[in-house]
Amino acid sequence: MIIDGKKFAKSLRSKIKFEIIKIKKNKKPIPSLTVVLVGSYTPSAIYVKNKELSAKEVGINSSVLRFESSISELKLISVIKKLNQNPKVHGILVQLPLPKHINSNTIIETIDPLKDVDGFHAMNVGNLSIGKDSLVPCTPLGCYLLLKSIKKKLVGMNALIIGRSNLNGKPMTQLLLKEDCTVTIAHSKSKDLKNLCKKADIVIAAVGRAQLVKGSWIKKGAIVIDVGINRIDFNGKSKIVGDVDFESTKKKAYAITPVPGGVGPMTIACLLNNTLKAYKNINS
Ligand code: GUN
Repeated sequence: MIIDGKKFAKSLRSKIKFEIIKIKKNKKPIPSLTVVLVGSYTPSAIYVKNKELSAKEVGINSSVLRFESSISELKLISVIKKLNQNPKVHGILVQLPLPKHINSNTIIETIDPLKDVDGFHAMNVGNLSIGKDSLVPCTPLGCYLLLKSIKKKLVGMNALIIGRSNLNGKPMTQLLLKEDCTVTIAHSKSKDLKNLCKKADIVIAAVGRAQLVKGSWIKKGAIVIDVGINRIDFNGKSKIVGDVDFESTKKKAYAITPVPGGVGPMTIACLLNNTLKAYKNINS
């Protein structure tokens, strides 16, 4: 089965749109998202544009604050503090990576945890890990929803997460532990990735290495979620592929997400969902 992330994301966006129509009918303040973009890194500019357009499409008020890469850390902190205090802003997202002279952790910790729609603030990370309600990072949340759409009960399944980043691997671990999976986290220093894969009922690949995971590594009937977005040269043309070798893996897996059209569209839909959740929490 090929998991259609585009279709799932569309249906999630429709639900959000419907809720926002109700909010507007009741003459309540409109949910709003502010994205902060520093510098001119092209992939970030593309992601941010997509986030802004998708937010508008569901009726969320969205705006982007753009700054030169020379902005000081202090100035950026004061920008975020103003957004924290602005009652018309419900979600704040600072696009990463930031220029080297700015400490990303300092910036993330400045965001009001209630408005932290990325779920990166230590308060949200901590709440997720102790099982309290929190804003959950968008990409692992998207993976989790796709996984649950394929299989409701994940109890006792062996899940292998490849990649230990704060953005993906670590929050994914918490989500799967909550489902009573047996979770293994592999990373660049792990030995014998192939054999770890062979034991896994669920593989989440989030390492950023093009087509690293091969079909021959996959247990028959496993569910494979591919978070990777890698640009490769293919017959002289540029092509986007995941961290999983799709053609060989789809023959072994019970279900697999394609790249593009799998996890990617879910990430933005989950950001919109988090913005609506932040709005509700702030107003409750
Ligand atoms: N850069 C790449 N992915 C992300 C993300 O999910 N959130 C933010 N803020 N920056 C990113």
